[in-house]
Amino acid sequence: MPEKVTVSLIKADVGSIAGHSRPHPRMMEVASNVLAKGVKDGLLNDYYVTRCGDDIQLLMTHRKGENNKEVHELSWNAFMTAAGEAKKMHLYAAGQDLLSDAFSGNVRGQGPGAAEMEFEERPTEPMLVFMADKCGPSAYSLPVSKIFMDPFTTTGLVIDPRAHLGYDIEVVDVVDHKKVLMTSPAELYDILALLGDTTRYAVKRVIHRTLGIAAVISTEKLNILAGKYVGKDDPVMLVRCQSGLPAVGEVLQPFAFPQLVAGWMRGSHYGAWYPCGVDKSDPSYHDGPPRVCALGIQITNGKIQGAEPPGSKPGDHEPVDYFAGEEWDIVRNKAMEISIYMRGHGPFMPGIVSPEELEYTTRPEILKKLEPRMKPLD
Ligand code: F6R
Ligand code: MG
Ligand code: MG
Repeated sequence: MPEKVTVSLIKADVGSIAGHSRPHPRMMEVASNVLAKGVKDGLLNDYYVTRCGDDIQLLMTHRKGENNKEVHELSWNAFMTAAGEAKKMHLYAAGQDLLSDAFSGNVRGQGPGAAEMEFEERPTEPMLVFMADKCGPSAYSLPVSKIFMDPFTTTGLVIDPRAHLGYDIEVVDVVDHKKVLMTSPAELYDILALLGDTTRYAVKRVIHRTLGIAAVISTEKLNILAGKYVGKDDPVMLVRCQSGLPAVGEVLQPFAFPQLVAGWMRGSHYGAWYPCGVDKSDPSYHDGPPRVCALGIQITNGKIQGAEPPGSKPGDHEPVDYFAGEEWDIVRNKAMEISIYMRGHGPFMPGIVSPEELEYTTRPEILKKLEPRMKPLD
């Protein structure tokens, strides 16, 4: 049996410059140094540190499987070290997503988000790494439904015999912490009946009947974990592509529809999802609009392969930054137009999310104050 590879993408917001914008390069550098030590010590095969908006993203490959304590601890230490730098510079929200002082075995439940997949590497293994800022995990439900369940998006479902079998979809209830494995296309309408409720359900995994794991999404619900508002989940997704799985182009296509996602300013507004390059992921309008980046890499002999020139050092990777190109300007312009329109609602729904989803509320106090003045209807 060939040795399996694990790809772990673990992310956290541990501080940024001038509001919730971007981490300082020094924070990225110290986080990289921690992961470089992980390679030196033989724990990791490879790593790449990047960001989406204010979130630091640790992409790692190793042979230790999902939820490995040492890999999670290394990530935790990378975030703690970056948070330390942020604190020294008095950056904004330094250490925000690190909900406890000490590591307790797994980053899940402690603030950071994680998408991890273990698989047998194919002779060539193209992968897309999605990173989102200022939104929740169910933002991916619509594109994932189109990519893996909609033959009008993924022609491969119809004409590629290897893709024709369909997929199993693991749906999670992020509020009650439950999950269910469902089958597409047999249960397509049942799956959509759940996923359509983006306040509660999200896709965790997509599994191909013979090739195994196809996609995984971080679904930690940070605000509920913390019991109070500490930021949106800003979820990540890994997708294996090609040769029986959806083609890279089929995976990217749904992002040309700038769907409304919950998050944005104060985690409490609906804004149009704005696809962009990593360097353009600063939240520039009303703390947004919510961003999504897509990086293309290969997994090669358990390591990350991009377009890096010969002689590059471990950790120096040059992925394909798929949403950076001007082809996506038309989508970005539309996303801005929709977002400006949504802002026209001010504090009225559907510009803001439903009362249960609001990250801040003053309503209980207002109602208490008004209690003596409340009269029955005539
Ligand atoms: C959204 C986000 C920001 C903040 C907003 C207020 O995820 O992080 O929109 O909610 O800037 O921030 P505080 O509460 O730190 O003043
Ligand atoms: Mg933030
Ligand atoms: Mg963020």
